[in-house]
Amino acid sequence: MRRSLFQNMLWVLPAEVAHNVRMALMGVAGKIPTGKWWLKVCHAPKHELLQREVFGVHFRNPIGIAAGFDPNGDRLNELSAVGFGFVEIGSLVPRPQPGTPRPRLKRLRIADSLIDNSGYPSRGMEHVLDNVRRRTKHTRDLVIGCNIGKLTASHIDDTAKEYLRVFRNMYQYVDFFVINVACNTASKQYVPRTRHELLDLIEPLFEFRRGQLDYRPILLKISPDLSQAELDTVIEVLIETPLDGIEAVAGSCDMAPKGGGAVTGAMLTERAIEVVRYIAQRTEHNYPIIGSGGMMTPDDVRRMMEAGASLVALNTGIRENGLRLLRHAARAITPKNE
Ligand SMILES: Cc1cc2nc3c(=O)[nH]c(=O)nc-3n(C[C@H](O)[C@H](O)[C@H](O)COP(=O)(O)O)c2cc1C
Repeated sequence: MRRSLFQNMLWVLPAEVAHNVRMALMGVAGKIPTGKWWLKVCHAPKHELLQREVFGVHFRNPIGIAAGFDPNGDRLNELSAVGFGFVEIGSLVPRPQPGTPRPRLKRLRIADSLIDNSGYPSRGMEHVLDNVRRRTKHTRDLVIGCNIGKLTASHIDDTAKEYLRVFRNMYQYVDFFVINVACNTASKQYVPRTRHELLDLIEPLFEFRRGQLDYRPILLKISPDLSQAELDTVIEVLIETPLDGIEAVAGSCDMAPKGGGAVTGAMLTERAIEVVRYIAQRTEHNYPIIGSGGMMTPDDVRRMMEAGASLVALNTGIRENGLRLLRHAARAITPKNE
């Protein structure tokens, strides 16, 4: 997919600056009278055949935004106008945290990848709640997922309590939850891998949900660095508990060079597709999977869906190749001969 002139200009800037420029321009577009209409005309895929029902939620199309792209939900109206099927806000943590000092996002230009060392910067739950509560009619069709992550400074023993706190506070304002159990670039020691660790984290969420009138699906977002045995444990937990699905995968800490961080983008594509295919086959396609990781081209998105993903979540592909990836990818996965 060829980059637009605008995207080539962004590519000259450091990766985080380029992203902030795009988000700021989208914010401007959102404020001027015809701005959202323009975003829609330029980007929004239009095909009824893309609509689908996944874990009981209606999606206008299966292509969404992964966590870390709009972590605080500041651009929900604009991302909705662009035409994404869903936006995953977060990783959300209970208190504001600044993340790692800049520069914290590095381009690996030849490999079409990024090294993310951001450490989940977040303006905190209250700010995000405000944004989500203030959803306008423009976001009516947009599904919002909330990704919950670990507060970098908190002790591991407090993590389950903190995840529950965010879950309870966000419960009535979002459509589904993603529980991040992948590598946080700033607290690498925290990657729950055993059955016991996973259950400790998710069981309090199930218990809270049991007492609610509305049902909110809960998915687990996993690391691409899990061993085969660890992946099998995740699948067992998926089958044996009321978990609704898996998001595979997050950035890879194992692929990162010595400086640390998590590799995202093209270096992740094959591993991400492999993990999704494995989970889909082992579960006989009975559980929803959100495919994430290295979806840089329309063909990557098509292959991810064919491997068994029900939805795909983009991040680096949009940052590096631009918003036009959405429409091209939508075209690539629209059923033919209709
Ligand atoms: C700058 C940046 C920040 C990210 N922040 C988060 C985050 O806060 N929580 C999370 O679960 N994943 C985060 N991710 C991971 C993405 O959501 C995604 O799973 C991963 O980058 C793989 O997809 P990609 O190759 O399309 O980027 C981040 C990725 C990037 C590049």
